[in-house]
Amino acid sequence: MTSPLLAVRDLSVTFRAIRLVDSVSFDIGRGEVFGLVGESGSGKTLTALALMRLLLPALHATGSVELDGRNLLAMSERELRTVRGGQIGMIFQEPTAALNPVFTIDAQIRAAIRAHTAMTDRQAGERVIELLGKVGIPDPASRRKFYPHQLSGGLCQRVMIAMALAGGARLLVADEPTTALDVTIQEEIVGLIEQLARDTGISVLFISHDLGLVARLCHRIAVAYAGQIVEIGATQTLLRAPRHPYTQGLVRCVPKLHEVGVLQRGIPGNPPAAGRWPTGCRFAPRCPQAGDGCDEAQVLRDEPPDGAVRCWRARA
Ligand SMILES: Nc1ncnc2c1ncn2[C@@H]1O[C@H](COP(=O)(O)OP(=O)(O)O)[C@@H](O)[C@H]1O
Ligand code: SF4
Ligand SMILES: [Mg+2]
Repeated sequence: MTSPLLAVRDLSVTFRAIRLVDSVSFDIGRGEVFGLVGESGSGKTLTALALMRLLLPALHATGSVELDGRNLLAMSERELRTVRGGQIGMIFQEPTAALNPVFTIDAQIRAAIRAHTAMTDRQAGERVIELLGKVGIPDPASRRKFYPHQLSGGLCQRVMIAMALAGGARLLVADEPTTALDVTIQEEIVGLIEQLARDTGISVLFISHDLGLVARLCHRIAVAYAGQIVEIGATQTLLRAPRHPYTQGLVRCVPKLHEVGVLQRGIPGNPPAAGRWPTGCRFAPRCPQAGDGCDEAQVLRDEPPDGAVRCWRARA
C-alpha cells in the first residue's frame, strides 16, 4: 500500500484537563473519501480543527498529524499558512458565514489563488471562472461578480469548495457541509464532492452526524463516541456487519429504501457530558450488551484486514 496522504496518530484535545478528543488515530489515502460520524458532542469538529491547528488557545492538541509525512502539529505558523487554504481546504456548516460579505466572489477566490500560486491577474481571472464552472455554478463569468448574500446557501457552499480548490488542496475537510442546507441541495453538494474526488483525486475528510449520508459518499468510515473512535471499517463491511454495539445502533437508525415510512428508533439515552465519562467502556450506560467485563476502559484494536473496534465483546 502506498503511504497515506494524512496520518493522524493519538490526536487528543484537552480543555482544563478534560480530554475532549481522546487519542484519535486514522489514515486517509490518496483520493480516498473518509467519513467521521457520530452524535453531536462526540468531538468531530474539535478533531477537524485540531488537525488544521485551528483550535482556540484554551484548547491544547497533542499527538501527530502527518500530511505527506510532515507533522502539522510541529510546524511553525508560517509553514502552516502554506498548508491551510493551500494543501488543505476546508468547508463548514455555514457557508454564508465563512464568506466575507463585503467582497465579491471573484475577489475572494482570487485572494485564495494569489495566496497559494503565482498567477498573473489575467490568469487568476480565468482560473476563477474555470473553478466556478467546475463546482457547477451556472454562468460563472457573471456570477463571480456577485456578493455572497446574492447567492443561495447551496451556491455559497459551491463557492467555498471552489475556494478550497483555488489553493490547490489535496485534502478537503468538510465539517457537516450540508447540515444547514435543504435535502435536494444536500444531495447536489454530496454529488459534487463525490465527483471531485473521482475526477481530481482529492482526498476528503467528510464529517457528519448522519451515517446514511456518510455511507453514500465515503469509502471508509470512523465512528466517534464520547471523544473516542469506537470503530473503523470499509463502508460496506461496516453497514453489513457493524461490530461495535454503538455502530450497530447507528446502522439500525439509517432509513432503508425499501422501508420508507417505517419509523426508525434512535439509540435510547444520551451520550455522557464531556469529561463525565464512565470509568469503563464509555458506551456502557446505553449498551444493550453491557455486562461483566465492560467496566474496564476499552481499547481500539485492529480488526484485519483494515478495520478496528473498541469493544472486547465485538472481537472474534
Ligand atoms: N471551545 C471549547 N471549549 C470547551 N469545550 C468545548 C469547546 N468546543 C467544544 N467543546 C466540547 O467538546 C466536545 C466535542 O465538541 P465538538 O467537537 O464540537 O463535537 P461535534 O462536532 O462532534 O458535535 C463537546 O462536549 C463540546 O461541548
Ligand atoms: S465493552 Fe461492553 S458496554 Fe462497551 S460496547 Fe462493548 S459490550 Fe457494550
Ligand atoms: Mg461539529
